[in-house]
Amino acid sequence: MHASTAVQPIAAARDESPWWRGAVIYQVYVRSFADGNGDGIGDLAGARSRLPYLRELGVDAVWLTPFYPSPMADGGYDVTDYRDVDPVFGDLADFDALLADAHELGLRVIIDVVPNHTSDAHAWFAEALAGGPGNRARERYIFRPGKGDEPPNDWESIFGGPAWTQVPDGEWYLHLFAPEQPDLNWQDAEVRAEFTGILRFWLDRGVDGFRIDVAHGMVKDPALADVGRTGQVSLLTKERLPYFDQDGVHEIYREWRTILDAYPGHRIAVAEAWVPDAERLARYVRPDELHQAFNFHFLDCAFDAAAMRRVVEESLAIEAPTWVLSNHDVQRHVTRYGGGYVGQRRARAAALLMLALPGSAYVYQGEELGLPEVLDLPDEVLQDPMWERSGRTERGRDGCRVPVPWSGEQAPFGFSAGEPWLPMPASWGGITVEAQSGEPGSMLALYRTALRVRRDHPALGDGALRWLDGPSGVLIFDRGPGFVCAVNAGPDEVELAVDGELLCASGPVYLLSDRRSRTWVVPAETAAWWTVG
Ligand code: GLC
Ligand code: CA
Repeated sequence: MHASTAVQPIAAARDESPWWRGAVIYQVYVRSFADGNGDGIGDLAGARSRLPYLRELGVDAVWLTPFYPSPMADGGYDVTDYRDVDPVFGDLADFDALLADAHELGLRVIIDVVPNHTSDAHAWFAEALAGGPGNRARERYIFRPGKGDEPPNDWESIFGGPAWTQVPDGEWYLHLFAPEQPDLNWQDAEVRAEFTGILRFWLDRGVDGFRIDVAHGMVKDPALADVGRTGQVSLLTKERLPYFDQDGVHEIYREWRTILDAYPGHRIAVAEAWVPDAERLARYVRPDELHQAFNFHFLDCAFDAAAMRRVVEESLAIEAPTWVLSNHDVQRHVTRYGGGYVGQRRARAAALLMLALPGSAYVYQGEELGLPEVLDLPDEVLQDPMWERSGRTERGRDGCRVPVPWSGEQAPFGFSAGEPWLPMPASWGGITVEAQSGEPGSMLALYRTALRVRRDHPALGDGALRWLDGPSGVLIFDRGPGFVCAVNAGPDEVELAVDGELLCASGPVYLLSDRRSRTWVVPAETAAWWTVG
């Protein structure tokens, strides 16, 4: 039986375009968003209590990172039971309550599904270990004999070190991530059937879609051929590797699409696929496959007009473009763009660029507050497996996972009634949601305004753009009907003739009064939106 959940679109549908094509989807990293029970760890009850904030912020949907039972070797991306909730995050009733509230508020909910690997504490893996070589249970994973004392091939874990671990009976198993995350064998019919069952389980509960973790990873070159070099992680978005972006993954998504399409209300799937170029990415969003794929090329792009224009053009060739500046795996963009005042100024401009582009945008919790990466977490609090796996050379991703500051003058700033799982900088009192709420010049005010305009203006969201001529260092485009966006990415202010009314700007844009045509001064590293005609 397929439960059908009535989801009311927040804004009246402006055309026939399905909701997700122009949606703004807010990523909740559950552990760090809001803590409902005071144990210092964010949870579903906490997230539920903050849904009105997200509604007011003006996003369309929420993506929840994994909340499944897990030993948390990788922040919950090591799952032992795909049909339940870890007690740290709550229970299924909490999930249902969150989903019901979200739908009541007009917010859709997508959840993370982690199909490339299970936890090593998953019942299947225990069975595989106990069964020994040649056992049927081993076929659900990728077990191989080694080459003498060496692993079966030269593949490397994304978190550092070899991608193979030897078990006491001598065989090795593949784990592209931590040893606690054994890779599943997607050639195995039982593995495939299990995941279609998992998708149905959550679709029946009413979720609006899935974010597919490591969507480029499930199928490996059957020959398990050597890569032939070390430092493989640096090739992730540059070259194809025998364990990533193999053509066989697409067969899985064609099957998944038929499942999604059988449910009412446009249930979607978005791929986390790190692939070399837009052409390879486009394969994940062919009409009979997934709806969206994260655009990591936009995320990777420097704050430079020519580079941004190139990435935008390439991305617009993709069927359903998405835009993303930050997530729980990368350094927060305020810091990436240079930090401090420069980082904030660029992040403000980038937000207006992202939200003006055709397609759907992903906002990572805290980016609407302009949170920087926390670079000085003490060694002893670091939890990302990357830290130990890299021999303590890569500090990992904890710096972008520090809990969200909500209110008050002192840590944990309303995040929790207890000690937060990662320490929060004492200096964050000025950038809490509460502190920024009354501040017209704040990052939060900018996001709120931009999201409101995006919702009201008929040109924004899904659609197309047309580039206009501008001075060097400036991106300028219009969208019909009646919208212009300009981003001055250069170091000097520029004058732009735009015959329209200013809708919002990331910095002090003003009209020159002594000219016949309407000429605007746009400061360095500043973006603006106008309504025209
Ligand atoms: C994805 C997740 C990341 C996780 C990895 C392994 O890249 O976003 O957080 O560590 O998959 O599951
Ligand atoms: Ca908690």
